[in-house]
Amino acid sequence: MANRPYQPKDRFFKQAKASGLRARSAFKIDEIAKRFRIFERGQVVLDMGAAPGGFLQILLDEVGPKGKVVGVDLVPIRPLNRPNVKTAVADVLAPEFDALLLSLHDGIFDVVVSDLAPKTTGIKDTDEARSIALAGKALEVSILRGRTGGHFVAKLFMGRDFESFRNEIRKSYRDVKVVRPEATRGASMEIYLVGLDRKPLTP
Ligand SMILES: C[S@@+](CC[C@H](N)C(=O)[O-])C[C@H]1O[C@@H](n2cnc3c(N)ncnc32)[C@H](O)[C@@H]1O
Repeated sequence: MANRPYQPKDRFFKQAKASGLRARSAFKIDEIAKRFRIFERGQVVLDMGAAPGGFLQILLDEVGPKGKVVGVDLVPIRPLNRPNVKTAVADVLAPEFDALLLSLHDGIFDVVVSDLAPKTTGIKDTDEARSIALAGKALEVSILRGRTGGHFVAKLFMGRDFESFRNEIRKSYRDVKVVRPEATRGASMEIYLVGLDRKPLTP
């Protein structure tokens, strides 16, 4: 796709506003949901890097009233006024994160979603390395806290470590898809990796 200039108020921004969605990014998880059918009614889904809550709005619709969504972010998420969502301020890379996540939900997650993105510095290698570190943490959580047969979605800044990260996901998921949702901004380097059907944990 040819690079397009940054358009802060493109059609997805306008569509999100008109639909009451908190972020244009909501359309990305909506597209992934429609393409791969990884979400179902009644599931428990973890959303890492969830502020301001665009993904959460879509995920809540996907899991329905009997499902549950947990969202974490460095910054507070404005209340969604739905009974089946829990949000918390957390640094996913902090040592205390795993304990905090257990306090939010001590069971397994059917799907772990990560839209985590570092504050960009403009230094390509630094931004890519930080993006990989965040996606790597999400993968670790999905392996340790995700359901066998469940799924994983993570955003990544495309770079030289992309192949090795895809191979890492392959070790734990039966199939890995690469997606660049339509709502992705023209010049953006981000892509999503979708791990389908978590393999059983091996000792
Ligand atoms: C692209 S935004 C997420 C947008 C969100 N999916 C939505 O639809 O509203 C990326 C988020 O990652 C969060 N983030 C970055 N580093 C983090 C970290 N170490 N721990 C928790 N959240 C982090 C940022 O605060 C930011 O809100």
